[in-house]
Amino acid sequence: MSKERLVIFDTTLRDGEQSPGASMTKSEKVRIAKTLEKMRVDVIEAGFAIASQGDFEAVKAVSEVVKDSTICSLARASKGDIERAAEALKPANSSRIHTFIATSPIHMKYKLKMDPDSVLERAVDAVKMARQHTDNVEFSLEDASRSEFDFMCRVIENVINAGAGTINIPDTVGYGEPLEFGRTIGRLIENIPNADKAIFSVHCHNDLGLAVANSLSAVINGARQVECTINGLGERAGNASLEEVVMAVRTRKDLFPVETHLDTTQIMPASRLVASVTGFPVQPNKAIVGANAFAHESGIHQDGVLKFRETYEIMKAEDVGLNTNKLVLGKHSGRAAVKARFEELGITFEGQDELNAAFIRFKELADKKHEIFDEDLQALVNEVQESVADRFALETLEVTSKTGTAPVAKLSLKIDGKAVEASAEGDGPVDAAFKAIESVVNSDTSLQLYSVNAITTGTDSQGEVTVRLEKGGRIVNGNGADTDIVIASAKAYINGLNAILADHAKAHPQQEGI
Ligand code: KIV
Ligand code: ZN
Repeated sequence: MSKERLVIFDTTLRDGEQSPGASMTKSEKVRIAKTLEKMRVDVIEAGFAIASQGDFEAVKAVSEVVKDSTICSLARASKGDIERAAEALKPANSSRIHTFIATSPIHMKYKLKMDPDSVLERAVDAVKMARQHTDNVEFSLEDASRSEFDFMCRVIENVINAGAGTINIPDTVGYGEPLEFGRTIGRLIENIPNADKAIFSVHCHNDLGLAVANSLSAVINGARQVECTINGLGERAGNASLEEVVMAVRTRKDLFPVETHLDTTQIMPASRLVASVTGFPVQPNKAIVGANAFAHESGIHQDGVLKFRETYEIMKAEDVGLNTNKLVLGKHSGRAAVKARFEELGITFEGQDELNAAFIRFKELADKKHEIFDEDLQALVNEVQESVADRFALETLEVTSKTGTAPVAKLSLKIDGKAVEASAEGDGPVDAAFKAIESVVNSDTSLQLYSVNAITTGTDSQGEVTVRLEKGGRIVNGNGADTDIVIASAKAYINGLNAILADHAKAHPQQEGI
């Protein structure tokens, strides 16, 4: 039986970035986008161009670099948003403008303060405006799962007539339930006279833990695009996870009338990259990409798998790119080999200085740790690429820690290029290091999260530390990696300070009216 194509629309770089603290730099977005392209994702939503100068630049940079996937920018249903999106997407080979307006009574009344007829008019105008820039226009009915069915039918019929080729039905607040949500998609397709002129898409949030189930139910009922994110990253409880949707469709070919064109072996590298860039580690029991997803602990299971793999495994680890974690480089690896491996990982450097800095950092790491894995290289690049315009940099750190006495940290920092010394006592070595940094920076931030994660296995693994800092309502994550976790912690703290003290406030698509 021939299968229809399921379009995979990845929004890690837009909705995923809306997770508190998950903001990404332009170069990080480009790296993730390249991995998504390698995975053969159909559409990459690279950002919300009007939200900030940084978002605009990121959408533009992704449009310049990625040539095999369609690049999309979000835009509210307004002229300014649509023009900004079109401008950022200009360099793309294939581009899409994704415009939206809320259609639920609660959003129309309290957020937009608009009546339904005006919302309908605004939606149609927005699609027409977007069509002046590209043939590929997507329209979303924000908060669709709480919108009235007949009003949705009216809006959808009109926006299709205005030129929208994709109609997205978001479960914005994660309120949907699989049977009901799937049925709604089926009824919309059945009842709207021109439904055959568009692809129906879904975009589900995970507030009730049902985002993937709702998306799959929609596919069974006729949706042919799913919007999703790597590791299920996204606003609040996240979005439907790309890896779960894609592997469900692939594993249960008997149930789903669709297929994706994805190279699933890129799933694991993409998951690791997103976790490392955002500092959101993947829970060990997470489906598909968790550390335990393919690990069999019980003796009965191990025995069964050894006798015949399918007794307890429904997917092959190799199919999601596990076991590709090969040892790549070591102390004796030369510059050309290191550069080649970076390129294979989709990592490119802006100029010779950045490459030199990466190579120096690689050699330092190889002196401490003789097996260098892909994950080590990813973490190393995070540091090198982020340090370019930094105000604060760690030069040296010395910590004394002894049973029965309070640890003391002594460090030297560069602040705006000037060397500064500091020392402080703390409850533990990390606390002492943070207090020493604060004694000279006085950032007035509050530490909301501190987490340490081993990047690879073994006691010589680098510890990857994430700190989350808050100042005046703004939240950022800072990351740092080192074989010494106190140094990794100090680097992460300084990385967070550099981010929070830089100025890049951005608009939020769902919180701002038009
Ligand atoms: O959740 C949502 O409704 C969105 C839209 C902008 C598609 O992210
Ligand atoms: Zn969303």
